[in-house]
Amino acid sequence: MAPLIDPFQRPISYLRVSVTDRCDFRCTYCMAEHMQFLPKKDLLTLEELDRLCSTFIRLGVEKLRITGGEPLVRRDILTFFQSMSRHLKSGALRELTLTTNGSQLARFAGELAAAGVGRVNVSLDTLDEAKFAEITRWGRLPQVLDGIAAATAAGLKVKINAVALKGFNEGELFPLLDWCAAQGHDLTFIEVMPMGEMGEEMRLDQYWPLKDLRARLAERFTLTDLTERTGGPARYVRIEETGQKVGFITPLTHNFCESCNRVRVTCTGELFMCLGQEDKADLRAPLRASPDDAALEQAIRAAIAGKPRGHDFDYSRQHVAGQMSRHMSHTGG
Ligand code: GTP
Ligand code: 5AD
Ligand code: SF4
Repeated sequence: MAPLIDPFQRPISYLRVSVTDRCDFRCTYCMAEHMQFLPKKDLLTLEELDRLCSTFIRLGVEKLRITGGEPLVRRDILTFFQSMSRHLKSGALRELTLTTNGSQLARFAGELAAAGVGRVNVSLDTLDEAKFAEITRWGRLPQVLDGIAAATAAGLKVKINAVALKGFNEGELFPLLDWCAAQGHDLTFIEVMPMGEMGEEMRLDQYWPLKDLRARLAERFTLTDLTERTGGPARYVRIEETGQKVGFITPLTHNFCESCNRVRVTCTGELFMCLGQEDKADLRAPLRASPDDAALEQAIRAAIAGKPRGHDFDYSRQHVAGQMSRHMSHTGG
């Protein structure tokens, strides 16, 4: 079977699937406080999600990341992980994983590990309880820390994702780093992307370029660039003094689109070829039109043939360019 290759000769091997647009938090950079969620009847069923993912895997996807909203608030989502684990066993899938806010991990970590999940990415921008409540609006830090502890106890490797936010978590850089070193977690910083409407001034005010963050780290530590990759957009350094690994996701200061290997599907079956473009294809219609996967496969191939070169996010010239009207929670990043 011909693999999925886009017009820029990039093989597509990484699928991100948002299984719900709902979330039990309301992170300010990700969602509006009062979100209008999709009616449940519009969602793909877990069986349909299974067919969809299995088709992508047949077409060469080796890394499957479940996202949201918050993936673990979708009812019965564990059965979906359990079902996907057959592709790990067959060797077709190299990695089955998820990105989560951690709120439900205390409940699910053990079963996720049993389903073959080896690693989880947990979003955590601050270790300060009051700040955590402020940025997530609805979240509680102890619940997330318990979730992370449960994940570690279940044998899951944890990577912490922190969005770098000027005037918010600049002072958290070293505390986060020290905590991750002590707990044995990797840590990745992310430049804030213009997803969802937010006043231009506010977005520019909160932007903390990772080259500045990196310079701050380099004042205290020796950083060595690493060539290893996880198949995602992060570039890693090792901190020589502690041995820990720190990742940088830099859509603004260093565009990584030329090595893009991924597409994302939403919980209603929209296929987005790029996080930073509006182009999308409907996979729900071909999925529902026939129990046979031929039409679905054809729709996927046609969409990949139109994958854009990359995003147009840009904050230089004191102006936000390339903004998406949809929120991050729509595609799960
Ligand atoms: P690893 O498997 O650990 O490398 O994870 P990952 O970085 O691929 O996934 P994660 O869900 O942890 O995403 C981290 C950040 O990267 C989020 O803010 C995503 O929105 C962002 N991200 C992932 N893919 C893309 C992409 O194609 N373009 C852009 N601009 N950002 C992306
Ligand atoms: N810019 C960058 N990262 C974001 N995330 C959510 N919204 C944004 C944004 N506007 C992050 C979350 C999570 C990951 C999926 O995306 O913190 O770690
Ligand atoms: Fe929910 Fe994650 Fe968005 Fe925060 S970043 S509102 S935890 S989906």
